[in-house]
Amino acid sequence: MQYRYDLVQYFIDTYKYKNYLEIGYRRGDTFKRTKCKSKWSIDPNSNPDTGKHEATFQMTSDKFFEKVSSRSLNHFREWYTDADEKPKIFDIIFIDGAHDKDSVRKDILNSLDHLRKGGIVVCHDVCPLEKRLLDPDACHNAWEAFAELRSERTDLLFYSIPVNHCGFILLNDGSKKHSDYNTMPEDVKDSLFNLSSQNLSDRWKFLNSNRKDLLNYIDLETFYNKFN
Ligand SMILES: C[S@@+](CC[C@H](N)C(=O)[O-])C[C@H]1O[C@@H](n2cnc3c(N)ncnc32)[C@H](O)[C@@H]1O
Repeated sequence: MQYRYDLVQYFIDTYKYKNYLEIGYRRGDTFKRTKCKSKWSIDPNSNPDTGKHEATFQMTSDKFFEKVSSRSLNHFREWYTDADEKPKIFDIIFIDGAHDKDSVRKDILNSLDHLRKGGIVVCHDVCPLEKRLLDPDACHNAWEAFAELRSERTDLLFYSIPVNHCGFILLNDGSKKHSDYNTMPEDVKDSLFNLSSQNLSDRWKFLNSNRKDLLNYIDLETFYNKFN
């Protein structure tokens, strides 16, 4: 497993997921490769190569989730039977839209609201392995949103892996496979919430020396043992 689309496809195949949503389509590099019974994508912008709007929904993710919550998208008419206040539609959501911390946080929370039972949210660029990737044009500070939510939400399990800077989130269902889950130590949590005064170099040092505690970073062997 090497790329984000390998990880997405691994989860779809392993858990027999049927409904895939991608936030941030750009050229469709992941979307076009992904094989799933139903799939949809969101992007407010056109494909920079073709100049055409190719995503299923040409709008921001915020607008999209607003419409899903109010059950006003014809695409999902058949899924709008759910008695839940927020319709649960997607088995797997790949978040790869705006990469600033606030947008990533909103995308994660909105995605979780519309995830079906047993579903997974995959986040790109939340586990940068090189300092240069903290650039706003690369992973930016998406990792901070992932880490902050991990410290706040004990009902969820957060993992990151050495695959194309990816992390993913699933519901904590008490499974034995996750009994060794690494929770965030209090001192790391305190420093995380005081990062605003730190410059980029200090943020990088903090991330890189606390990766396991911040992002629950696991190697691929552990990943395959847990998720099969
Ligand atoms: C890194 S690219 C996505 C790459 C693609 N997921 C892939 O795997 O090849 C990020 C995309 O997110 C889109 N984007 C930016 N802000 C967005 C938003 N608020 N909602 C949805 N998409 C957004 C950009 O237009 C851009 O095409």
